[in-house]
Amino acid sequence: MTQPSTTTEPAAAADDTMTVRGGVPVEGELDIRGSKNALPKAMVAALLTEETCRLTNIAAIRDIDVVDELIGIAGGSVEHDPDQIRITAHSFSALGEDDVERLHAASRIPVLTTAVSLHRTGTAVVAAPGGCAIGPRPVDFHLRVLRAFGARDDHREGMIHLRADRLRGARIELPFPSVGATEQFLFAAVLAEGDAELANAAIEPEILDLISVLQKMGALISVEPNRTIRVTGVKALGGFEHRVIGDRLEAASWASLALATGGRITVRGVQQQDLATFLNVYRRAGGDFTIDAAGSTISFRRARRMLRPLAIETDVHPGFMTDWQSPFVTALTQAEGVSVVHETVYEDRLGYTDALRSLGAQIQVFTECLGPTRCRFGAANHRHSAVVVGPTKLHGAELVVPDLRAGFSYVIAAAAAEGDSVIHGVGLLERGYADFRTKLTAVGVDHS
Ligand code: EPU
Repeated sequence: MTQPSTTTEPAAAADDTMTVRGGVPVEGELDIRGSKNALPKAMVAALLTEETCRLTNIAAIRDIDVVDELIGIAGGSVEHDPDQIRITAHSFSALGEDDVERLHAASRIPVLTTAVSLHRTGTAVVAAPGGCAIGPRPVDFHLRVLRAFGARDDHREGMIHLRADRLRGARIELPFPSVGATEQFLFAAVLAEGDAELANAAIEPEILDLISVLQKMGALISVEPNRTIRVTGVKALGGFEHRVIGDRLEAASWASLALATGGRITVRGVQQQDLATFLNVYRRAGGDFTIDAAGSTISFRRARRMLRPLAIETDVHPGFMTDWQSPFVTALTQAEGVSVVHETVYEDRLGYTDALRSLGAQIQVFTECLGPTRCRFGAANHRHSAVVVGPTKLHGAELVVPDLRAGFSYVIAAAAAEGDSVIHGVGLLERGYADFRTKLTAVGVDHS
């Protein structure tokens, strides 16, 4: 049985176990709601104003609860209707160490409120990064951004205390186009004094969605060629109404399930352009898809009996996303020949391959960069490349979910395998894939 990796999530509860009876191609239709990696950031943006902000296309994911709690502690209010969230933060007080410690352990989102807290209170506390199943997930780029804006930080007993009377625009270049550090920059720059520029910024669709929100609030932001974002700070921001983009990571996960089992899944509510790279790779591997005129309903299917092997390298947008990697590579265990995977975004995102081996997959992990890019992880000896030999007949096994995307991959592998698999820790999945069990039933995965 696979051992659970170190994770920031609580250990699996006893009723957190699911049995999947695999070997049957999936078939069904699903609605995809607001993106897990965009929605909570739009909630954080709402804290930059005293006016009421309204978000729609809401997915029931755990990070919403975390941000809800954070807003409540800070003195704001959050109201939920079936399909909307209204946030009003007339006042905002900086979080204390205990709240910071608890909330930061539950999610990556609270660190993004650091610039907001500095704007509104002149102080902020950040928990030093802890263990995480996909790598240490440091905050040094965030600190680099905030220091450039004039914040001073003081590190004591696992906590980082920041202070700034006023954030002032600056020119910053990120060592790597980090999504979170780019968001931190945006939250800092929109209300800072003067002009700010971020070179080597992340430009993921989720970032562009956040920029749309901030623009609706009155921010002055331009995205230049070559990953540069320029912002001119304004004195105050107003409320907004925003429909959050559909979750392209969830869509790709279900698409990979269809590919692995030789089935067919239609997803409604994501945009074709946000999945362009994934769609190309999907087709090259022997999958196919049809897309409606609006580009928001996509039917995925396996187009040939035997999938084709591929070489893939994960990258920042518009490259092949790291969050697509594990579900898609799980499908590649069914390809005829040798596939090669090079993970260049996280140093430790191939741990799930151990579990796939226990189902019969033939996968070997390497420390070398097995791809055209010499990435940060090759010289540091991280096990970040893999070779997958297929097709392998998968059989049922017992598995423990280590993180969100790896967990979905285990479900894909279990659904493609002959026999029963027992997966522990599926609660973690329900926190990032809204209505996960209902959707599994909707596409015909036999589970209990
Ligand atoms: N990094 C640093 N220092 C920092 C920040 C990042 O070294 O201060 C490194 C990370 O260790 C990693 C790389 O930069 O090697 C990229 O990290 P990034 O900051 O872009 O990731 P993130 O903002 O923490 C978001 C998503 C992730 C997604 C990545 C990459 C959210 C809540 N999370 O994380 O999503 O993989 O961007 O696109 O938006 C997931 O959905 O399962 C997930 C992990």
